[in-house]
Amino acid sequence: MRKIICIANQKGGVGKTTTAINLAASLAAAEKKTLLIDCDSQGNASSGMGIDKSIVNEKNLYHSLIGKVPLKEVIVGTQLPCLDVVPANQDLIGIEVEFVNLEDREKKLRNLLKNLDTPYDFIILDCPPSLGFLTVNALVASDYLIIPLQCEYFAMEGLGYLLNTVKLVKSRLNPSLALGGILLTMFDTRNLLAHRVSEDVKNHLGNKVFKTVIHRNVRLSESPSHGLPIILYDIKSRGAVSYMELAREILDNGRM
Ligand SMILES: Nc1ncnc2c1ncn2[C@@H]1O[C@H](COP(=O)(O)OP(=O)(O)OP(=O)(O)O)[C@@H](O)[C@H]1O
Ligand SMILES: [Mg+2]
Repeated sequence: MRKIICIANQKGGVGKTTTAINLAASLAAAEKKTLLIDCDSQGNASSGMGIDKSIVNEKNLYHSLIGKVPLKEVIVGTQLPCLDVVPANQDLIGIEVEFVNLEDREKKLRNLLKNLDTPYDFIILDCPPSLGFLTVNALVASDYLIIPLQCEYFAMEGLGYLLNTVKLVKSRLNPSLALGGILLTMFDTRNLLAHRVSEDVKNHLGNKVFKTVIHRNVRLSESPSHGLPIILYDIKSRGAVSYMELAREILDNGRM
């Protein structure tokens, strides 16, 4: 059974794309056939995976969402035999307005995935930093949500809005959506506030917080500029070890 996992948080720069790329690559390294879908007009997951701009410009998620090209034809292979990508770019910017009067507009991505007959074990969706059309489409298409959370002062506040949106999506559009887990990202051991926020999150949502914590790691921030997931850029780095641990936690614990 394939599992569709959405990586979302409306707060910007919390590690969504880094998590989407590196979780997808780590699952693929564990020989799970994985599809990474870039649902963000910033196209960071696409460039971070080193996908050539000319390929993205020609065909991307936008063309499938508007019904011009089947999703299957938008899929691009990668250096990892078990990992494919559906890229995106700025074409997605106006889609919310384009679809404003369309029926079932929140179900566009779900329907594309329903009709995709390529057998993937995991489909990972990288969301933009908003709770708009594309994030809602991703939540409606998903079985599980992973929330990357940076241990900062306002982290918990934003979490409330996100969990509320999840509740709405669950009650109206996708009853089978489940919270897969909260992932603490960019954790800085020397920062006292980070420890306090992490304790706070664990006290409120203890069993929903992944045991794996992603620490701040320079190699993780360098790898996208080389167009490589961390396991191909520096397999020995702390970031690579952590994301492989996260994949292991997901594969082993039966929660997802
Ligand atoms: N564990 C980490 N250690 C160091 N740098 C990191 C780590 N995780 C992410 N970064 C860096 O932090 C920045 C933001 O990360 P990322 O792009 O993954 O966040 P995002 O939530 O996808 O952002 P956006 O909301 O704009 O989509 C990037 O420059 C990334 O390389
Ligand atoms: Mg991003």
